[in-house]
This record gives sequence, structure tokens and C-alpha cells, in this order.
Amino acid sequence: MKNVLVTGGAGFIGSNYVRMALERHPDWHVIVFDKLTYAGNPDNLKDISHAFAGRYSFVAGDIADREAVFGVIQTSNVSHIINFAADTHVDRSLMEPGQFIMTDVYGTYVLLEAAREFKISRFHQISTDEVYGDIAAPGRSSEEDKLHGSSPYSASKAGGDLMCLAYFRSFGVPVTITRGTNNIGPFQYPEKVVPVFITNAIDNLPLPMYGDGRQMRDYQFVMDHCDGIDIVVERGTPGQIYNVGSGVETANIDLAHEILRLLGKPQSLIRPVSDRPGHDRRYAVDNTKIRALGWQPANTFQESIAKTVEWYVANEWWWRKIKTGEYLEYYKKQYGGRELPAK
Ligand code: NAD
Ligand code: DAU
Repeated sequence: MKNVLVTGGAGFIGSNYVRMALERHPDWHVIVFDKLTYAGNPDNLKDISHAFAGRYSFVAGDIADREAVFGVIQTSNVSHIINFAADTHVDRSLMEPGQFIMTDVYGTYVLLEAAREFKISRFHQISTDEVYGDIAAPGRSSEEDKLHGSSPYSASKAGGDLMCLAYFRSFGVPVTITRGTNNIGPFQYPEKVVPVFITNAIDNLPLPMYGDGRQMRDYQFVMDHCDGIDIVVERGTPGQIYNVGSGVETANIDLAHEILRLLGKPQSLIRPVSDRPGHDRRYAVDNTKIRALGWQPANTFQESIAKTVEWYVANEWWWRKIKTGEYLEYYKKQYGGRELPAK
């Protein structure tokens, strides 16, 4: 049995990955280590704790807490660390950057220290295409490009990546990094654009569209991203970075049109709001390197968005209880007073 520590496994991508990993690797025991911030949700792992009871365990903890991290790795005899734990929302990083530095940079450092101390066989870092900054069409960011993070979130993720590469070069920690594009799918907290738009549309509420809505993102299905991560954990070369993205970009305004079409709601729900400060115009990655490892996306954009809409329609039990209390306060702070006159 391999004891695999999945940090941030109670979040959106982490929980989808844990489900995939337990199905794919009968010789893995997965230990989820998660601080359960507002974005960490035991409901995301509910089915897993039943289906894989003998090969799955959960430990509550902070990756920036050295004692807790060293403790779990030692007591569980961990051989692999897969780090999803992060503060992840760009808009929140503009409100409160400090926590992003604590988790995404310092927390990554603590995990790397543990990997070094306990001679971990593989440390895999989940990173993002946002570290490259935006890129004008028809360009695509490649793994060798310079880092140009625009927000405190992307700058913190870039800091985490650089720390990983430094621990590989200086101390020989067997690190791999994947840089994924925007994920969509089940269990995404309704602060990111797709679940905000879907859940608002279901309730006939406005869809807040930043700026002119012409920003481009590569919206890939979360299971395709998880597949890429798993391939790199298994077959990636230590010291290497791999972009994971479908290679297809969609403008936010077209994304909103498609969500409303799928839900049978009026396009008039789209409401322009003032733009995000420092908003990156376009992300697009070159995915040649991960394709050479045998990866390819299984879902088109159309399939990904349709499956995502279907999931939110069928799982109101999951998101309705999130969209209360603290969430509503965040929503007011984030969107209040930003509406622009309709064009
Ligand atoms: P998420 O916000 O849904 O989940 C993050 C998880 O990390 C939560 O369970 C949270 O409780 C946990 N966490 C936060 N701080 C922690 C800490 N200090 N110690 C332990 N656990 C902590 O995030 P996500 O969208 O699933 O993203 C997961 C990873 O993938 C992140 O590293 C993110 O940067 C990266 N990523 C995300 C996307 C995307 O589109 N969502 C794309 C590319 C890369
Ligand atoms: O590119 C990968 C990144 O994708 C991940 O590293 C981040 O963790 C993840 O949050 C995501 O970042 P984005 O900033 O691209 O995602 P977000 O869903 O916040 O926004 C997507 C686009 O939609 C972006 O151009 C801003 C716009 N937007 C967003 C929100 C929340 C809106 O127009 N309205 C909104 O209400």
C-alpha cells in the first residue's frame, strides 16, 4: 500500500481527484489533510468516506502548521504528497492578500520541508496557468515562459512553484508541477464564475459580468484536469512542469449565453458590473508536453458545461446550504454597488 497525502482534498478539484485516485489505484491509501476553510466541505467527500472506508482517512489541519504536517506524515508513513491546498479565489486575494501568502507560499514551503525530511518519493504541486499572466492571441504559454502573476493569488502560486523548483534543485526533492487552466464541474464553490452564473440563473438572479465580458479562459472539465494530474504523478519526470488545459478558449460572455441557453433562462439576466482590478484578458496554454505523456481531454467545452449545469440542477442540496449566512455577506461585499448601466 502507498500512503498518499492529499492536501486540500476537501475542496473542489481535490475531492474530485481523491474519488478518481481511489478508483484507479487499489494500492493507495489516501489521507486527506485539509484545514476546512470556507471552501473546504466535508459534503464533497461524503460518498468517498462510505465507498472507500478502509483506504481513506481524513485529518483536519493547516499546511502552514509544521507540527501538524510533520505529525501526519510520520504517523501515516506517507510516501507521496499531492498538494491541492491553497487559497484560490482571485477576487478574495484582492480583498485580503495575506492569507494567500500564508497558505500558497509558506504552506507549500512547510510541505516541502516535510518532503525533504521524510524522503518522500514524490511531491506533486497543483499550480495554475495564472502564473504566466495573460497572453495575447494567438500566443500560448509554455512551461518555460517567464512568470507574470497579476493578482496576489497568482503571485502567491508563482511563489509556491518557485519554492518547489528550488527544493528540487537544491535538495533533490522529487517535485513535479502541473499548471491547470480553469476547471468546471461538480462541487465548485459558488464564488467562481461558472457556479455563480449557474446557481444565480436557476434562481432568476443577475449574472454579474466583469467589464466587457470578452476575457478568454480555457474552461476544462475537472475530471480531465484530474486525469492530467494523475498521469504526471505516475509518469512525470521530477523537476518538470506540465501545463494541463484543453487548448480551447471561451469568452465569458459566450459562457454566460451558453449557461442561460442550457437552463432555458433569458439572456437579459446578464448584468455588466465594474471590472476586476488587474483583470487578465486571456489565458491559453500550450499542452504539447502533457499530451506527450498520453493525456488528452475526454470532454469538449460543450460537454463540460452541459455536465456542469446538469450537476448543479440535480444537486441543490449541496449548494443551497452554502449560499446562506457568511456567503451572502461575501456576495454583498464583492458585488454590491458594482452594477453598470446595461448596454
Ligand atoms: P478550493 O478553494 O475549492 O479548495 C481549496 C481547499 O484547500 C479547501 O478544501 C480548503 O479547505 C483547503 N485549504 C485552504 N487553505 C488550507 C491550508 N492552509 N491548509 C490545509 N488546507 C487548506 O480550490 P480548488 O479550485 O479545488 O483548487 C485546488 C488547487 O488547484 C489550488 O492549488 C488551485 O490553485 C489549483 N487550481 C485551481 C484551478 C481552478 O480552476 N479552480 C485551476 C488551476 C489550478
Ligand atoms: O486559470 C486558472 C484559475 O482559474 C485558477 O488558478 C483559480 O484558482 C480559479 O479561481 C480561476 O481563476 P479565474 O479568475 O480565471 O476564475 P473566476 O471564476 O474567478 O473568473 C473567471 C472569469 O470570469 C474571469 O475572467 C473573471 C470573470 N468573472 C468572474 C466572476 C466571479 C465574471 O465576469 N463575473 C464573476 O462574477
